Amino acid sequence: MEEKIKSFLEEINLFLFTNEESAEAFRLKYLSKKGIIPALFEEFKTLPPEQRKTTGKSLNELKQLAEQKLADAKSTINKSPDKDTVKTDLSLPGDPHSLGARHPISIVRKQMTDIFTRIGFVVSEGPEIEDDWHNFGALNFPPNHPARDMQDTFFIDSGDGEKWLLRTHTSSVQVRVMENQQPPIRTISPGRVYRNETISARAHCQFHQVEGLYIDEGVSFADLKQTLYYFVQEMFGDKIEIRFRPSFFPFTEPSAEMDITCLICNGAGCPVCKHSGWVEILGCGMVHPNVLDNCKIDSTKYTGYAFGMGIERITMLKFRINDLRLFFENDIRFLSQFKSVL
Ligand code: DAH
Repeated sequence: MEEKIKSFLEEINLFLFTNEESAEAFRLKYLSKKGIIPALFEEFKTLPPEQRKTTGKSLNELKQLAEQKLADAKSTINKSPDKDTVKTDLSLPGDPHSLGARHPISIVRKQMTDIFTRIGFVVSEGPEIEDDWHNFGALNFPPNHPARDMQDTFFIDSGDGEKWLLRTHTSSVQVRVMENQQPPIRTISPGRVYRNETISARAHCQFHQVEGLYIDEGVSFADLKQTLYYFVQEMFGDKIEIRFRPSFFPFTEPSAEMDITCLICNGAGCPVCKHSGWVEILGCGMVHPNVLDNCKIDSTKYTGYAFGMGIERITMLKFRINDLRLFFENDIRFLSQFKSVL
């Protein structure tokens, strides 16, 4: 019997507890009424008295060991966060944390603000829900003037008699800055804008713009051109060519639009640039004296320039993206492609 006890002692010592089921199996096998240890106690009763002393001692030790093992295993299993795995294999590789990516619009907005802040522009922001005065009136759009139709506006019916709208451009922020500050003013205003446009590969009802404004004594169109040359070179490199075309905006006079070499075909002509080799990236001009006066800035003393461009357009050219809708769909297969860009 001593031999049997010894072999069970070894067996119990080697028993591997992995989960609650294995602990229960252990209990049933060794400690339950019909288990091995009670059976050994029965057998013990049949032993001649001279053997009982030593065998009784070993048998008690076996029982204590089994009970101790079971109690230890149960407390480890209960403490373990994953009750099913008591044993942890520390040599396994860790679970990688997947890194997110910044949205391409955020990447380019940051690049743009970095470029302008390097030459002394400060960032200013304004509300997306605007009143008619900041979006149109102060910017020299007369009431009922057809120029308002250039931007299909989402009006908001607030019921308070005030005409609220979702800003159609970030030019509204330049009004807010000029109302609160006297020249010299040198600011850029990135932000989201809204227009009631049919959604397509080239247009969306929401997009982002960066507005630029510089007002001081003696600011000229040459300063505007130089700043925009600098911006394009920093953004796209010095191989890119630029051209200005005369245009019209109520808030600038003279006004222009600026084109750059199409980055998709390098100027050879392609569907993106409608085979012209050029793509328009911004509107600009000298701030109209009426706008300065509307914002209580002395238009006989100060002049200034302004420009406004779409961040989506710049991003599409920069990363060669051909559909504007991708920016708003949040498709992870699209977004994760920008992981390596900081
Ligand atoms: N606000 C114009 C638009 O959204 C863009 C623009 C044109 C801004 C000329 C300007 C500017 O500051 O001078 O279409």
